[in-house]
Amino acid sequence: MQSGSAWALQPLAEMTTAEFNDWQALLETRSGIVVSEQRRSFLQVHLSARMRELGVSDYASYYQQVINGPCGAVEWVALLDRLTVQETQFFRHAESFQAVTDFLTKKVQSTQSTASLSLWSVGCASGEEAWSLAICSAEVLRQASKKIEFGITATDISHNALRKARRATYDPRRLKNVPTELVERYFTIQADGMYQVVSTLAERLCFARLNILELAQAPIFGMDVIFCQNVLIYFRRWQRREILNRLVACLAPGGMLVVGVGEVAGWQHPDLEPVADERVLAFTRKG
Ligand SMILES: C[S@@+](CC[C@H](N)C(=O)[O-])C[C@H]1O[C@@H](n2cnc3c(N)ncnc32)[C@H](O)[C@@H]1O
Repeated sequence: MQSGSAWALQPLAEMTTAEFNDWQALLETRSGIVVSEQRRSFLQVHLSARMRELGVSDYASYYQQVINGPCGAVEWVALLDRLTVQETQFFRHAESFQAVTDFLTKKVQSTQSTASLSLWSVGCASGEEAWSLAICSAEVLRQASKKIEFGITATDISHNALRKARRATYDPRRLKNVPTELVERYFTIQADGMYQVVSTLAERLCFARLNILELAQAPIFGMDVIFCQNVLIYFRRWQRREILNRLVACLAPGGMLVVGVGEVAGWQHPDLEPVADERVLAFTRKG
């Protein structure tokens, strides 16, 4: 006999090629995420799990349900949570966070006291990346004698991921990359053993749902740091470049764009200069 969870992970049936093509195209058009033939079983398993909950037995009927009307739009939101990879960590790529810290330190030295810093975590998942940027900023400003404010914008396509990010409560095992001193400064331990981000840091964060395919409509500009890692890897190459070009327009002159190493080979932009550190893939905007 199979256990309940093993049963839940069984696809209902093999998808036909036409069904796979429809689902693949829908996901790519709406979110940019490409499900390659190798990840077909991933798609089947996750669609099946949701279809079981709804009592729908074939992929084509469920497809019609998702693309039609207001109920379809609601169902799409629920489905997207299952089809997006939301794996993340605090200080996931340490070198990139060090590059942000170095950049902010220099910026603060050359900035007047009344100024403010704006940072953006693009595809923040359950928040660890955004909170890591907040900790870097708070640390830089704590060590500077100037009174400079900072704010972090954190966006994602997944409502569920954003809910977790806003809750800002993490299991201690998730804090393994955060130095003890910083855990003590920026988290409080709750009665249930979970760690909660302190309110003085939490008030610096603003979470919002944003599909990066819709950047053109987003009123985001003048960012000092844009951090976009492990999101574009699921997109086609031409799409990655197009999104990066749009992100450049959201940077303040002199601002820094940090991408995941290896996520965009050979991309250049006339307004950007690469950061001379081969451990990171980062650029600063000229001017
Ligand atoms: C693997 S996580 C990366 C999280 C974090 N940036 C990191 O590096 O640890 C990818 C995130 O991108 C989000 N995502 C995927 N497609 C997106 C889109 N079109 N617009 C905005 N966010 C998207 C997913 O919901 C997910 O939370």
